[in-house]
Amino acid sequence: MDDKIVLTGIKPTGTPHIGNYIGALKPLIKMSQSHKTFMFIADLHALNAVHNAKEIKQHTYEIAALMIAMGLNLENTVLFRQSDIDEIYKLSSFLMNVTPKGLMNRAHSYKACVEKNMEMGADVDTGVNMGLYTYPILMAADILLYNSDIVPVGKDQKQHVEFARDIAGYFNNLYGKTFKLPEPVISEDAGLIPGLDGRKMSKSYDNTIPLFAPSNELKKKIMRIITDSKTPEESKDPDTSTIFQLYKHFANESEIAALRKRFLDGGMGYGTAKTILFEKIDSVLSTPRAEYERLMANTSEIDAILADGAQKARFVASKTIAKVKKKMLG
Ligand code: ADP
Ligand code: TRP
Repeated sequence: MDDKIVLTGIKPTGTPHIGNYIGALKPLIKMSQSHKTFMFIADLHALNAVHNAKEIKQHTYEIAALMIAMGLNLENTVLFRQSDIDEIYKLSSFLMNVTPKGLMNRAHSYKACVEKNMEMGADVDTGVNMGLYTYPILMAADILLYNSDIVPVGKDQKQHVEFARDIAGYFNNLYGKTFKLPEPVISEDAGLIPGLDGRKMSKSYDNTIPLFAPSNELKKKIMRIITDSKTPEESKDPDTSTIFQLYKHFANESEIAALRKRFLDGGMGYGTAKTILFEKIDSVLSTPRAEYERLMANTSEIDAILADGAQKARFVASKTIAKVKKKMLG
């Protein structure tokens, strides 16, 4: 077991889909097998955009249940809900005072909002709440609270981890070495998983396949995948086919090679390819899906796991807060 502490957060802003799973959740589950891991559902980070408690709670359960059902190593992992950790509010608040406003002005997500407003001729701060503006400080607090060494994130979050390093550095300069400097690890690029319409699978395009869609819904979605208009006889390009791109992530090597050959050889219609894809995903996911459904029907079991995680996380967090408070306030 590597002795580095791994930490990451996942925002509960949608029902996890195949793209989220392959791109983000699967690599984390793998990492949890060999590292001491802190993994939390970042419900506070969802708040700047989602103002609906029921929705956040539902997606929190979905993500936790998915991680557990897909084999997250709960021996090595502290799994918890961000908002259950009172120390997070404290550390954010302390860190505000060593974080230059200019750093926040440079954050990609804030800048994107400002630029969009400028393009539309609106006031630059339209739609920007302080949760969005201070998002990187809350994220730095997440990372620094648990002495994290490694923070696996998608490319879009790299800047935030760098900001956490910067903020740790400002603090250490002012108060003496207190925080470790965390390293972002950009998850191996699984490539973008395409959605039903061939664009990146994303909830914003409404083209997703939920990882644990019930069998009949999974089938319906897969049958809706957009293809080109090649006849069954014609040879087809597996590398540009959404069907094949999805299949690759669920089948084994010989199955992948066999389907690739059928695409190239011709003689197989897209309808048949979709059925093959459906049957593969449906069978690979049937056991974890049953576990997911069981957990979603017994959310008190998820609550108990999250409560246990929160207790362990707070044990570490409270020590950090005591240290920071002493340094800042005596
Ligand atoms: P969405 O695009 O549906 O809003 P998010 O932006 O919430 O998804 O993504 C959460 C995580 O899932 C990110 O780390 C991102 O890298 C990963 N992810 C999302 N969609 C895909 C995709 N189509 N292919 C690969 N990874 C993805
Ligand atoms: N901001 C991350 C995202 O949108 C989620 C997140 C919150 C996170 N806190 C974190 C990731 C700390 C890594 C470490 O995906």
